[in-house]
Amino acid sequence: MTSDDTMATGLTRDGSLYLTGNYAPVREEITAYDLTVDGQIPAELSGRLLRVGPNPVAPVDDPANHNWLAGTGMMHGLRLRHGRAEWYRNRFVRGTEVLAALDEPPVPGPTRGFDNSNNTNMIRIGKEVYAVAEAGALPMLVSYDLRTEARCDFGGTLGEAFTAHPRVDPVTGETHAITYTPQHEKVQYQVVTPEGRVRRIVDVPLPGHVMVHDTCLTEKYIVIMDMPVTFSPEAASTETVPLRWNPGHGCRVGLLPREGNAEDVVWCELPGTPFVFHTGNAYDAEDGTVVMEVVRYESMFRTNLLHPLADPGHLYRWTADPATRQVSEQLLDDRAQEFPRHDERRVGRDYRYSYTITSDDMPQGFTGLLKYDVQRGTGERIDYGPGMLTMETVFVPSAGSTAEDDGWLMAYLHDTATERCDVVIRHAQDLTDPVATIHLPVRVPFGFHGNWVAD
Ligand SMILES: [Fe+2]
Repeated sequence: MTSDDTMATGLTRDGSLYLTGNYAPVREEITAYDLTVDGQIPAELSGRLLRVGPNPVAPVDDPANHNWLAGTGMMHGLRLRHGRAEWYRNRFVRGTEVLAALDEPPVPGPTRGFDNSNNTNMIRIGKEVYAVAEAGALPMLVSYDLRTEARCDFGGTLGEAFTAHPRVDPVTGETHAITYTPQHEKVQYQVVTPEGRVRRIVDVPLPGHVMVHDTCLTEKYIVIMDMPVTFSPEAASTETVPLRWNPGHGCRVGLLPREGNAEDVVWCELPGTPFVFHTGNAYDAEDGTVVMEVVRYESMFRTNLLHPLADPGHLYRWTADPATRQVSEQLLDDRAQEFPRHDERRVGRDYRYSYTITSDDMPQGFTGLLKYDVQRGTGERIDYGPGMLTMETVFVPSAGSTAEDDGWLMAYLHDTATERCDVVIRHAQDLTDPVATIHLPVRVPFGFHGNWVAD
């Protein structure tokens, strides 16, 4: 598409933007020890702050068409112990394309599925950590020091695919996932035991080759997000991420009882055709409705095909009523925001707080942290200061605490002046100043998701 076409359609298609600035990939894998710290790292934090993002290992063939979602994954890890920042390291996820580029031998594991796009999240299931993505990518098992150990299908129990956004029930410890592949007109509900074995797979027909990025879990239901972004067969041969805004598809959420089957799904329709990538927490209300928090978009891939967060998303409450089969919408906060997280000890239960990151200037980057209080209907925002751009915030409970919001908020920040990264830690109940800022000697590109993995 030429620039004249772009002006004619209003559609931005300059993918080279996502190969420059802090979207640009880093080439080197480094390990740095004994990092410089301002302030005091809480001594109780013993573990690793992990994240992953797209980081093409080889030069991109057609930069103008480069989609931010595409590319091999690079993992980043910061190890904290005894109040010290012991190490930072970054490593490519060793999928086939990375192995070829680096001239390394294959990693073990099953050969089904694909392994070149594990760039979306790093999660723990039981004792193991995996780099994961949706749409058919096999989970990649990762060692403590970020080596890719194996392609993994959970001992042969995995269904047709996995997801980057499972939910862990804090009571049972089981991992709940809605998974899909672009080829099949269905999703699979998969429940993974803490031992890393899929114990339950439910096929649910879902026409239209829908992209299903996230889900919600309550005590009664797993939620299927049937949103108007679908895979385009015509674009599949020319684009790495052939997704299209497709409002004709409609918008609804499916409530699948956790022990139910496909025929038990209650589909609840939205007014209009909004779109959601990411959900926050959700719970079953006493009146039988399901209350969900979402970051809602008016549309997606309509003005920019190559960057999913180019238009602003806003925090909404969706209330799905299985009696009326309708979803009602309520705007919670009208500031542009994304990457909702919460205290995961409250997953599926009534909750009070969510933590998002906010920006007035996407896709340049996210500039602040927003803590939203659902009970009071207020959001507390802090900005990280000139030139500082934040990635997703992770909540880590304080040692020995049980109260929601009693914990630490941790985030990787990009400093545009130094082109290096700081990791900041602050208490969730006192956002004024960080308790510690850890200076990494390198740049960490904007990426997607990650988690704190305690030792
Ligand atoms: Fe995501």
